[in-house]
Amino acid sequence: MGFKLIDLPYNKTDFGDALSAESFDFHYGKHLQAYVNNTNNLIAGTEFENMPLIDIIQKSTGGLYNNSAQIFNHEFFFNELSPKKSDPDKFVTDLLVKSFGSIEKFKEEFSQKATTLFGSGWCWLVKLNDGSLAIEQYFNADTPVKYGKKPILTLDVWEHAYYIDYRNARPSFIAKFFDLINWDFVSKQLH
Ligand code: FE2
Repeated sequence: MGFKLIDLPYNKTDFGDALSAESFDFHYGKHLQAYVNNTNNLIAGTEFENMPLIDIIQKSTGGLYNNSAQIFNHEFFFNELSPKKSDPDKFVTDLLVKSFGSIEKFKEEFSQKATTLFGSGWCWLVKLNDGSLAIEQYFNADTPVKYGKKPILTLDVWEHAYYIDYRNARPSFIAKFFDLINWDFVSKQLH
C-alpha cells in the first residue's frame, strides 16, 4: 500500500549529457524515492492513509506536507520532460504570447525567476483563477496545488537537480531545460 515511485516515460540514458543516467539515478532513484518512502511512513496509521496525494498536500503541514508536495513536484517535472525536442503548439504559443508578449519574453522571465530563486525551490508556470498565466517562485517543497493554482510547467532548481551534470552552474541547466520540455504535455495541462 501507499505511494509508489512512478515509471519514467523515457529511458534514463535518453538525454545524454543534458541529464545523465547518473543524475536520474540520484534525483529520481534516490531523492524522489526518499520522498515517497517518507510520505508512506508518515501517513501509516493516520487519517491521511489511503487519501489521494492532492488531498494530503492540501490538508497536511510540516514534514508530511514537504514530502507529499515533493512527490507531486517531482512526478510533474519528470513527466514533463522529453528527450525529443519539441515546440509549443499554436494553442500554447497564443496563450504564452498573450500573457508574456512573446515566447522569448516568456523564456526570459522564466529564466530570470528560476535563476534568482535563492536557495532551493521550484519555478512554476501556473494558470490563475482568471485564466491568465503567471510565473511564480515556490521555495523548498512548496507547490501551487496547495493554493488551488493549476500547475502547467515547472523547473526544479534544488541543487540536487543539476549538480551532477552542471555543478554549480544553475543558469546553464536552465538554458538547457527549454530543449527538454515535452510541449505536448504542457498543452494537455492547459486544455
Ligand atoms: Fe528535485
